[in-house]
Amino acid sequence: MAKAAAPPTATQGDPVRGLPPGPRMHRVVQTAIWSRRAQWMLEQCRTRLGPMFTLRIAYEGEWVIVSDPELIKQVFTGDPKVFHAGEGNQILRPLLGENSVLVLDEKRHIGQRRLLLPPFHGERMQGYGEKMAAIAAREIESWPTGTPYRLRPRMQAITLEIIIETVFGVHGGARIEPLRDALRDFLDLTTDPRFLVPMLAIGPDRIRSLPAFRRRVERVDELIAAEIAERRAAADLADRDDVLSMLIAARHEDDSPMSDQEIRDELLTLLVAGHETTATALAWAVERLARHPEKLERLRAEVLAGEEAYLTATIQETLRLRPVISIVIRRLTEPVELGGYELPAGAAVVPAIHLVHRDPRIYLEPGRFLPERFLEQPPGTYTWIPFGGGIRRCLGAAFAQFEMTVVLRELVRRHQIRPSDPAPERNFRRAITETPRRDAEVVLG
Ligand code: HEM
Repeated sequence: MAKAAAPPTATQGDPVRGLPPGPRMHRVVQTAIWSRRAQWMLEQCRTRLGPMFTLRIAYEGEWVIVSDPELIKQVFTGDPKVFHAGEGNQILRPLLGENSVLVLDEKRHIGQRRLLLPPFHGERMQGYGEKMAAIAAREIESWPTGTPYRLRPRMQAITLEIIIETVFGVHGGARIEPLRDALRDFLDLTTDPRFLVPMLAIGPDRIRSLPAFRRRVERVDELIAAEIAERRAAADLADRDDVLSMLIAARHEDDSPMSDQEIRDELLTLLVAGHETTATALAWAVERLARHPEKLERLRAEVLAGEEAYLTATIQETLRLRPVISIVIRRLTEPVELGGYELPAGAAVVPAIHLVHRDPRIYLEPGRFLPERFLEQPPGTYTWIPFGGGIRRCLGAAFAQFEMTVVLRELVRRHQIRPSDPAPERNFRRAITETPRRDAEVVLG
C-alpha cells in the first residue's frame, strides 16, 4: 500500500482544520481495494496512519475512519441533524421507497423509527420462538450428511422464511409461494452486479426506468399491496403478532395511520436489512464453531442441558470477530470537531466496526475465537458495535440475535459439524456484507 500523504497532524490545543491523513493512492485505486478487501485495507491504514485516517472512495467522497471507542461514542451520540446516516443510503431509494427508515434523516427518520420500534422490542421476540424453531428444524432436517455442503444459501432460505412468517405474517397456503419467489427476485436486485453497477453509474432515479428493474419491483409491490389490503380487513387484527399487523395498527404522532406506501416501504426495508445479514452471521458462527470442536462440544452440552449463556456468548463473539458489516457511515451537514480535527461539512465520519473489534487494547488476543470472553464481561456499548449505534442502531438487533440462538440451537441438537477444509474461510465481499468465501462449507454428521 502507498505511503500516506503528508498529514496535517492533530496535537493538543487548537483543532487542525481539514481531514486526517490518508493513503496517497488515486481514488479509483482506493475504491477498487475497498470493494474487494475492505477489512485488510482498514487494518493496513490503521497500522500506517493511526486510529483516524481518511479514505477517498468513488461516489462516496471522503470517509474519515474512526476506530477509537471514545470518538465513536461522540459520533453515535452526536446531533442527528449534523450526523446524517440516511443520506449515505440513497442508492436504496428506488428499491425501498421514499419512506424507508434507512434512507431518511432527522424528523422523518425519527417518525418512521418510532412506528417500527414496538414490534422489535426485545421481549416481543420470545413470541416468535416457536415459529422460528419450526422453520429452522424443517430446513435443517432436509440437509445431507457425510458430504460437503454450503450452509450460507441454506441459512438465507431460513431467514427469508422467518421474515415471511413473522414480519409479513403469511403462513403456508397458496399465497406463500408467489410471495417467496417475488421477494427472492427482489432481493437479487440488491446483490446482482447487473443492477448495482448501473444503479451507481446512472443514479438512483433513472434506474427505475429500466424494464427488468421495473418488472421485479412491480411484481413485489402487487403482492404486498394484496397482503396489506387483506390484513387491513382482517377481523383478528388485534390478536395477530406479525409486524405487518402491528404496523397497520400503529399511529403517527398526530394519530394518523401509516399509508399503504409507508407500510410497503418499511416491509421491504426490513426484508433487505434483515435477511442476508442474519444469514451471513449464522454462516460465520458455523464456520468458526466447525474449526473449534471443543467450543462446539461445550455449546452442544449446554444447549442439551437447556442453558443459554454460552450460546449467547458464541453469537456475540461471532459478531465481534466476523462482523457482517465493517463500517457505518454518518455524513456531516456542518463542520464538526472530532479527535483534534475540524472536519468539513460534506465529509463522512465512519466508525470502523472491524477495527474496534480487533483492538488489542480492548480485547485480549483479538484474533482468537473465544466466546468465553463474553461470559466474563458483557459487550460494551462502544466497543462491541456489530449493529452500529445511537439513534440509527440496528432496529433488528434483538430480533437477529434471538433468531441466531434459535437456529443454532436447532442445528447443534441435530448434527455433528466439521469443516470440509480445515483452513479458515477468508472473507468475501457481497454487496455490503462480508461473507465466508466458501459459503460456510461443512460436512454434517
Ligand atoms: C446479524 C444481523 C444484522 C446485522 C449485523 C445488522 C447490522 C446493522 C447495522 C450495522 C446497521 C446500521 C446501524 C448504524 O448506522 O449505526 C443496521 C441498521 C438497520 N437494521 Fe440491521 N442488522 C442485522 C439484522 C437486522 C434485522 C433482522 C432487521 C429487521 C428485521 C434489521 C433492520 C435494520 C434496520 C431497519 C436498520 C436501519 C435503522 C435506522 O436507520 O434507524 N437488521 N443493521
